Amino acid sequence: MSKDKLRIGIIGCGGIAHAHANAYKSFDDVEVVAGADIVPGKARKFLDRFDWTDADAYDSTEELCERDDIDAVSICTYNSQHAVCAVAALNAGMHVLLEKPMSVTIEQGLEIMAAEKASGKIVSIGFQPRYGANYQMVRNLIVDEKALGDVYYVQTGGGRRRGIPGGTFISKEKAGVGALADIGCYALDFALNSIGYPKPLTVSAVKYDHFGKNPKYFGDYKNFEVDDFSAAFIRLEGGITLDFRMSWAMHMDTAGDFLFLGKDAGLKVKQPNIGAWSGAWDGTVGDITLFHDLYGKLTQTPVPIETQEKGNLFQSKVRAFVDAVLTKGEAPIPTSQIIRNQAIIDGIIRSSECGHEVEVKYLDKI
Ligand SMILES: NC(=O)c1ccc[n+]([C@@H]2O[C@H](COP(=O)([O-])OP(=O)(O)OC[C@H]3O[C@@H](n4cnc5c(N)ncnc54)[C@H](O)[C@@H]3O)[C@@H](O)[C@H]2O)c1
Repeated sequence: MSKDKLRIGIIGCGGIAHAHANAYKSFDDVEVVAGADIVPGKARKFLDRFDWTDADAYDSTEELCERDDIDAVSICTYNSQHAVCAVAALNAGMHVLLEKPMSVTIEQGLEIMAAEKASGKIVSIGFQPRYGANYQMVRNLIVDEKALGDVYYVQTGGGRRRGIPGGTFISKEKAGVGALADIGCYALDFALNSIGYPKPLTVSAVKYDHFGKNPKYFGDYKNFEVDDFSAAFIRLEGGITLDFRMSWAMHMDTAGDFLFLGKDAGLKVKQPNIGAWSGAWDGTVGDITLFHDLYGKLTQTPVPIETQEKGNLFQSKVRAFVDAVLTKGEAPIPTSQIIRNQAIIDGIIRSSECGHEVEVKYLDKI
């Protein structure tokens, strides 16, 4: 084991851990020294698959966290285990790259933030679309160049016509939340990050499971325990409203484009790849159009967009985390922002369960 390299552990060695591993494998200045998974033998097989035969495999996160020579971990467990694993790693003095969504409940999110503060380590949340050139351009246009003037209304969401993932994603105990947290958190992150992550205040929402529980549309319907469609009206600070819909399955090609309405101009970001598996998760966009008045005429200007390899986004997200740890910098995608995303998800769940608008919980803390 090299003392000069950043020493990494991977917690949860399932599907997405492979993308983290591929990114770490491509960096010269990091070394993966350990992995943990609660399925016995799974961490060993995973590490061997990447030729990390000298790395130690553990059958629990607690054992991995007993080590005092690991600088940072990627946490790739299913959602319900994000908080417990992040808190354990932080308490053991490790920096954390935590997969999205940050947590299942807002309380778990706040626990992560408290442990982060107490440890002096960083937690970055894994929203790789942030590294998409077009997502960055939209944020620059709105936040830095103020091309729209004050933004007062945002529509976000989208999702899939027929794309329920199955596996751990449909379990209440493991995923905790369905489409809303799986791909809804990306759509919320794009919308909120593009306007400077204002604080959410209230949420009125509904959620459904019409497709997941129907044998006509989903084979594993007996085990489907989460949402497959949700819609919400969210009031944000500064008089901004956020209109949100997210689907794993519906009888429609898209639940809408991204719309940003400002006092001086509007921006439409069309959904890419409308159809079975579309959504905001991979950083791709369709056309982007600026709606504005020019010499008193209603004008639509196409905004030039970039094409970017999807794989690079994941690499960029892991690299940004590694750089922040190496330079003792700030978390690239900080919990102080993502707790607001989580507060909306929490609000959508509570509002849909009680049937009326709810105030966002812990407003003083988010
Ligand atoms: N950023 C992305 O593009 C992206 C894509 C897919 C999934 N994800 C996120 O990654 C997470 C994992 O998704 P996945 O598809 O890899 O799921 P998965 O079910 O394939 O893998 C999760 C793994 O975590 C293990 N695990 C559970 N609890 C554990 C614990 N306490 N300690 C150690 N290991 C534990 C499970 O045994 C399993 O092997 C989810 O939160 C999901 O939202 C992100």
